[in-house]
Amino acid sequence: MKLMEKTSVISVESVKKSSLEELAGIKDAKHLEQFRVKYLGRNGVLTAVLRSLKDRPLEERRATGPAANALKNELEKRVAEKFHEFSSSPAGDFFDVSRPGKKVKIGHPHPLAVIEREMREIFGSLGFASVDGPEIETGYYNFDALNIPSDHPARDMWDTFWLKNQNLLLRTHTSPMQVRFMENHQPPFQIIVPGRVFRYEATDASHEINFYQLEGLMVGKGVSLANFKAVIEEFFKRFFNKPVEFRYRPSYFPFVEPGLEVDIKIIQNSKLKTQNSGWLEVMGAGMVHPRVFEAAGYNPRELTGFAFGMGVDRLAMIKYKIPDVRLFYAGDLRLTAQFK
Ligand code: PHE
Repeated sequence: MKLMEKTSVISVESVKKSSLEELAGIKDAKHLEQFRVKYLGRNGVLTAVLRSLKDRPLEERRATGPAANALKNELEKRVAEKFHEFSSSPAGDFFDVSRPGKKVKIGHPHPLAVIEREMREIFGSLGFASVDGPEIETGYYNFDALNIPSDHPARDMWDTFWLKNQNLLLRTHTSPMQVRFMENHQPPFQIIVPGRVFRYEATDASHEINFYQLEGLMVGKGVSLANFKAVIEEFFKRFFNKPVEFRYRPSYFPFVEPGLEVDIKIIQNSKLKTQNSGWLEVMGAGMVHPRVFEAAGYNPRELTGFAFGMGVDRLAMIKYKIPDVRLFYAGDLRLTAQFK
């Protein structure tokens, strides 16, 4: 037998060295079994060494026998230990099909991100491009260019976080992007500007120091409030996927003339006379003030446009019946886990 002839010259020492090395590199039960057969199996290397001893001279048997037996015991012990290790560790080959699966935790988008994505999609389908603006603004874009000079009482409408440094602030609304955008673009255009805004005020269930707005701006020749109504009514019908009633109330913002506020009423069920929410104020809007066009370098005699700014948090609260705006910023995963 080939193996016998060979083993007669293989020393126990060299078998020990190669087998232990091999064993150390074994990472799964399948290879461990192959290893066991190779060394300890009926035709295994070590078995052959042990068997061949009986044909050897007495001195050699005395010298090799105990070492070979010790190696056999050691390998058996180590193989058993490794089998145990693999069957109790998930990396091993052992697989208990009856064991309950491990729940994979997946992330969820924030409800405000979900809402913003939906808004972008609806306005996108109505031909509005989406642009971003800086959260740190200058007093010029946040106020002056929007027809709110520093001595104007209307500045009180926006409680501002001023930065220590110069004339910088955290933008109190997304309206500064009106002038920023117009400075670099020629009409006609229609854009939305979703983004985070900041107010220096006490928080409660409907006020946060930061929240999200979505600004809209459409400028061209002959753009009118009728265009605004068409766009905004289409938007809300799609957004709530329910019939919506609208109410337009005159209001004041220095950067629009005329200015208005929009209230909506969602008709939950048109047959049953509703136990619904009543009127909800959802945005400020109006026709772009000539001074704002001038600040942007446009000729107000040639162009008209409408602008609106709606509260994203507000709409998310209405749509998902979330009772407190602060929940959006509390970082509680139980809230986000409810959104896809
Ligand atoms: N920027 C206003 C606000 O934050 C909303 C608004 C936007 C009003 C555009 C009119 C036109 O209150």
